Amino acid sequence: MQSTRNKLIEILSNNQETYISGQLISERLNISRSAIWKHMRELEKDGYVIEGKPKRGYRILEFPKKISENTLKWGLETEWIAKTIIHKPETTSTQHIAHQLAQEGASHGTIVIADEQTKGKGRMNRKWHSSKNEGIWMSIILRPAIPPHKAPQLTLLTATVLADVIMKETNIKPYIKWPNDIIIHNKKMSGILTEMQAEQDQVQYIIIGIGMNVNQDIKSLHKEIHTKATSLKMEADKEFDIRYLVQKILQQFEKTYELYLQKGFPVIKTKWESYGFRIGEKILIKTMNHEWKATFSGIDHDGGLLVRNLDDGKMEKLYSAEIDW
Ligand code: BTN
Repeated sequence: MQSTRNKLIEILSNNQETYISGQLISERLNISRSAIWKHMRELEKDGYVIEGKPKRGYRILEFPKKISENTLKWGLETEWIAKTIIHKPETTSTQHIAHQLAQEGASHGTIVIADEQTKGKGRMNRKWHSSKNEGIWMSIILRPAIPPHKAPQLTLLTATVLADVIMKETNIKPYIKWPNDIIIHNKKMSGILTEMQAEQDQVQYIIIGIGMNVNQDIKSLHKEIHTKATSLKMEADKEFDIRYLVQKILQQFEKTYELYLQKGFPVIKTKWESYGFRIGEKILIKTMNHEWKATFSGIDHDGGLLVRNLDDGKMEKLYSAEIDW
């Protein structure tokens, strides 16, 4: 059923300018005219707008905005990412599901995406508010052949992917706050949670969790984060098509990941620094049991945070810290 429907979508989307006759579809899919009609009704339930004209055939007028495995796959130009899509209308956390799937052997590039998360999680065990149909709540399973110490580079890579897509689609310049927050006008609109299963010198799998506030307005942003968070809609003053944004992110992710494998981290470093928040400025560094002031110099060739200590002028490299100002 599913694959016939996918083929039907493919036929219709390849013929958007013309009507395609029921006869032709029936021959191509090897199904009856009444089966075609039933599939068309199902597609309409999914949000496709299809015009059917006697003697001429069918034509797609509109593609759905709502997310499903089908709608995400339609028009998605990728080689390996999102070949398997698990879509949940509601779930606790896409990270949980992605871990389960990865442990059961899910392939490189599998994605898990939800309309709503009831237990969305952020870094440092923080809560991540994930309201229904208002944002991107997605986890990507990767199986890179890299040693575990390089995994944080993929967080930085993902941040550049999100920044590139936001910049292109909104014309608003986002900033990346080290290591992974996407900031617009000093407020957080997106975050990345990277989790890994690894042996001593080999990564088994990495899960990149992406949370992006897209269509919330001030009323639907959770009150806990009112003062420090924002959404694309609040910044650009218009609604965004979440399905389209997810596709753009996946395409850009695949392209950037391939570039990283070919050329290494330096290309990501340059891109990251072009979006880097407060580079060259004084920042506050917070680690588990220490806080101090430093000048933020940028990131090193391996992704570490480079700061110059204001007390002794020495350059330091950090791999895990929070920054503030
Ligand atoms: C952070 O900035 O603290 C990271 C937030 C990551 C949130 C995403 S939403 C999709 C995935 N599922 C989760 O439960 N968390 C990540």
